[in-house]
Amino acid sequence: MENTLAFAKAQDNSDKFAKFRSRFLFPKHNDRDYIYLCGNSLGLQPKAAREVLGKQLDYWADFAVEGWFDGEEPWMFYHKELKKLMAPIVGAMPAEVCPMNTLTVNLHLLMVSFYQPKGKRYKIIMEGGAFPSDQYAIESQVKFHGFDPKEAIIEVIPRTGENILRTEDIIHQIELNKDEIALVLFGGINYYTGQWYEMETITKAGHDAGAIVGWDLAHAAGNVPVKLHDWKVDFACWCSYKYQNSGPGGISGIFVHEKHFGNQTLNRFAGWWGYQESKRFKMEKGFIPESGADGWQVSCTQVIPMSLYHASLQIFEDAGDFNELRNKSIHLTQYLEFVINEVNKDIDFKQFKIITPSDVASRGAQLSIIANQKGKEFFDGLLSYGILGDWREPNVIRLSPVPLYNSFEDIFQTGLALKEISNRLLKSK
Ligand SMILES: Cc1ncc(COP(=O)(O)O)c(C=O)c1O
Repeated sequence: MENTLAFAKAQDNSDKFAKFRSRFLFPKHNDRDYIYLCGNSLGLQPKAAREVLGKQLDYWADFAVEGWFDGEEPWMFYHKELKKLMAPIVGAMPAEVCPMNTLTVNLHLLMVSFYQPKGKRYKIIMEGGAFPSDQYAIESQVKFHGFDPKEAIIEVIPRTGENILRTEDIIHQIELNKDEIALVLFGGINYYTGQWYEMETITKAGHDAGAIVGWDLAHAAGNVPVKLHDWKVDFACWCSYKYQNSGPGGISGIFVHEKHFGNQTLNRFAGWWGYQESKRFKMEKGFIPESGADGWQVSCTQVIPMSLYHASLQIFEDAGDFNELRNKSIHLTQYLEFVINEVNKDIDFKQFKIITPSDVASRGAQLSIIANQKGKEFFDGLLSYGILGDWREPNVIRLSPVPLYNSFEDIFQTGLALKEISNRLLKSK
């Protein structure tokens, strides 16, 4: 790798995904496109979003209530098209996934089904430092079942002086508590550190301990390849507004492994849209779930946010093999790591510490960077150069190159900006 514009441009010239950049809209900074490194928070708007939305508004205008069954894409069945496009992104069968609600709502609904404490098996193992919504959801579920979160929730934390979790420590906690755990529930990638947990290994360890295993894939879906079906994950959910570009508050996706389809003992918070599709409008008493993940739907299908998700899923479909896209992602993020380390060399001390694992198998697109000095000023400095990442208290800058719309030149320019900001902030003392 070389820290030169010529090197970056050469990478871009041989990048088969470079053309996908033109399918997104970039916010502007002084009449130039921002270098957008914030897809870990909110993905960019696909240009097709306005068109698909307009199409649904036209259906609504033209068909009104008849739109549920009439037109090219009757709303009643609209989610089925999305299921087909969502499934490969998370390594599932279409029947195992469903677009519905928003992420934390789905975490709750899935815990209603899959957190079923019995006797002394009532504990939940999760990552320490999970995204707060997951912490609150888990705490409130545990309380709902009458347990004290301090006893019922086991948080696995990094060793003293370390930032990331060791798989062996996670497995150790699972084995140590093997008779008492009902559920192992982790984020696939931790939002703060960017660590991608060893999902297959952890899932297996949870199952060996007799527990159910679920994943919050907010930072993983559309970012790294996961194989939910093959890994026999029990359930998962994700938001689609980060790496899957479905817009602010975009619709969430759920996964329920087919091994649970026939299980009549699972609790559910039911609603009419989860009722057997063929008989839904008979309006009969007594809930009979539709088979598959669709049986977890509660309210009627959210066509408008779904259409936005559809616009983005179509781009993934057009991009083809997700593993190839991931390959570009690995190289982009490695290049970002490289240019940051070059800045460290240039200023002769470790101003930037990347806490995200350096092993590409343990991370996705995101790098979480601690600036030794003046972290927030560095972040603001990047903004003044038209580079948009995000800042997480107390001291982390998260930068996430997204292979569908970021280029190697974006990364080179980011390194250059960091170098100039360093010269200004650190060398002019
Ligand atoms: C890991 C994780 N869990 C949960 C959430 C909350 O998602 P929502 O507000 O869509 O429920 C987020 C949002 O960024 C997240 O990153």
